Amino acid sequence: MNTPQKEGDFTLMTTLSVSALAQSFNEVPPDNIIFGHTEVMQSVRARMGKVAAANVPVLITGESGTGKDIIARLIHSLSPWKVGPYVKVNCPAIPGTLLESELFGYEKGAFTGAVGSKPGRVELAHRGTLFLDEISELDPSLQSKLLQLLQDGQFCRIGAQEDKKVEVRVVCATNRQLEAEIEAGTFRQDLYYRINVVNIRMPGLRERRADIEDLCNYFLDYYNRKFNCRARPLSHEVLEVLQKYHWPGNIRELENLIKRYVILGHEEVITNDLVAHEPDFLSSEISFDGPISLKKMTRQCVRELERKVILKVLQQHHWNRKQAARTLGISYRALLYKIRDAGLPSNRALRLRQAEKNAMATAPTSGAAAD
Ligand SMILES: Nc1ncnc2c1ncn2[C@@H]1O[C@H](COP(=O)(O)OP(=O)(O)OP(=O)(O)O)[C@@H](O)[C@H]1O
Ligand SMILES: [Mg+2]
Repeated sequence: MNTPQKEGDFTLMTTLSVSALAQSFNEVPPDNIIFGHTEVMQSVRARMGKVAAANVPVLITGESGTGKDIIARLIHSLSPWKVGPYVKVNCPAIPGTLLESELFGYEKGAFTGAVGSKPGRVELAHRGTLFLDEISELDPSLQSKLLQLLQDGQFCRIGAQEDKKVEVRVVCATNRQLEAEIEAGTFRQDLYYRINVVNIRMPGLRERRADIEDLCNYFLDYYNRKFNCRARPLSHEVLEVLQKYHWPGNIRELENLIKRYVILGHEEVITNDLVAHEPDFLSSEISFDGPISLKKMTRQCVRELERKVILKVLQQHHWNRKQAARTLGISYRALLYKIRDAGLPSNRALRLRQAEKNAMATAPTSGAAAD
């Protein structure tokens, strides 16, 4: 038995401008933050600007957390249909059996429990934008219905005798490789060509490292205001660590990290978190597209391994570098050099702050031994 799903996971709204959009979501960062100043994001911006005005389907691809949702909303707000509705459907969030009725609606008596008729989200998006998130999750029968919609703007409510017509701009997003899904037989090739008239690829955060500092400052300010906190600007050392990290969760990961830092108030939150997510160097860095220099790779792996060991030992000794050097069996100076070389935080700022706190909290004679 099919029952209509609750409305919780979809967004239906009317927008007038980008700033109105920003207000209504209260979350959309300003343009200079969204696009930063890296070349790769400037070409995303240019492509998005061009495609927004044209009534063609757009496919936004990119890893999780790269900002596909934000770009879909911006495309709508810059399009001629911006005064129309923006309807988002998060395909995996709606169980397969319900998705058809949610998308295309149904007529009274179409199935047990269909006591009245109900329009689907496709209809609700009339003269606006329909954003289909995680499009690869559509099952084959829904893929055919979507294909028809894209071909002639027609669709059929479940249980209806006749087709209906809508004018709707379709934007899809996925973090999967649809070509691979086509090869595996789970995604229709003809649908792929229809939704992929223009492709916008969102780069991973590691491809736009020059934007990391501005993003950090933005989130720091945002969450300081939101939680009424006063977390200090990040130290140069921690910023350097953030610049070197591989960011598997992209901007979402960075945002969550800064949020935790703001709430908990000390930089160790960041360094500890990143160490826990250190990449498996071998699997992430070797490209099998061309020749591999064994000597070079081995050197890199050794460096990476050394960096990990140093980080672990530093953590165990609460960043006391003298003790860490002793444990590692190297001189203090050699460790300082390696810390700098590996782009690890010296945590001087952190220790100074700790010393300040200790001095205030304990007797005037307390001399916290810095290493
Ligand atoms: N360019 C950006 N500037 C600032 N914040 C961003 C940017 N891109 C994404 N974010 C923030 O990162 C988080 C994830 O973004 P979003 O949901 O758009 O990613 P996504 O690519 O749709 O991820 P998923 O594939 O998991 O759905 C959001 O909180 C968003 O506000
Ligand atoms: Mg998304």
